[in-house]
Amino acid sequence: MTEPKSSNLTWHEGHVTRDEREARLNQRGVTVWLTGLSGSGKSTIAVAVEQVLLQQGNHAYVLDGDNVRHGLNSNLGFSPEDRTENIRRIGEVAKLFTDAGIIVLTSFISPYRADRDAVRKNLGDGDFIEVHVDASVETCESRDVKGLYKKARAGEIPEFTGVSAPYEAPEHPEIVLDTNTQSIGESVTELVGYLKGKGYLSA
Ligand code: ADX
Repeated sequence: MTEPKSSNLTWHEGHVTRDEREARLNQRGVTVWLTGLSGSGKSTIAVAVEQVLLQQGNHAYVLDGDNVRHGLNSNLGFSPEDRTENIRRIGEVAKLFTDAGIIVLTSFISPYRADRDAVRKNLGDGDFIEVHVDASVETCESRDVKGLYKKARAGEIPEFTGVSAPYEAPEHPEIVLDTNTQSIGESVTELVGYLKGKGYLSA
């Protein structure tokens, strides 16, 4: 958490604890942080996992880069500073959802290691699972689902991750999904299996 600008603030505790909310929901709140290049499969995996979890009786919710930039973060661009602020805000939102007992699936490039590590620290042990959706620039560019790599190569999108802006891969992610070779279905099964194995999901 960053230091507030104001000083006359008091933290109010509610009457309901996180444990009580989680017991009610029969699951543990957690933030599953998907990071990777544009076109690596983050959003596709996130929405598919959300659907599987809901079908299994869990409460999950996706926070997606393109979507959040339409609202909460509509005033942010893609400079390093704006990306840092994008990730900081999303980290705080994810923390609130996690405290509410929800399984949050975030889908942001989040290219800077320090930004992701700050979110990990803010959420704390067991509440943050970093998932590297690992597809090479070549793979993502060959798919180019949104046509953005073509535009970036043509110089029409400045600071495009993987082309003209950096991507710092996680060094110690909890999970690596190699979407160069693995199908979306396989990635979804692996991720859901991990959450089940670690006891986040209802029995
Ligand atoms: S992040 O770097 O700040 O984490 P975020 O995940 O929110 O990025 O947004 C990435 C999405 O914005 C991409 O999937 C793509 O559709 C779009 N986009 C537009 N401009 C850029 C850019 N310069 N670099 C990367 N993605 C961009």
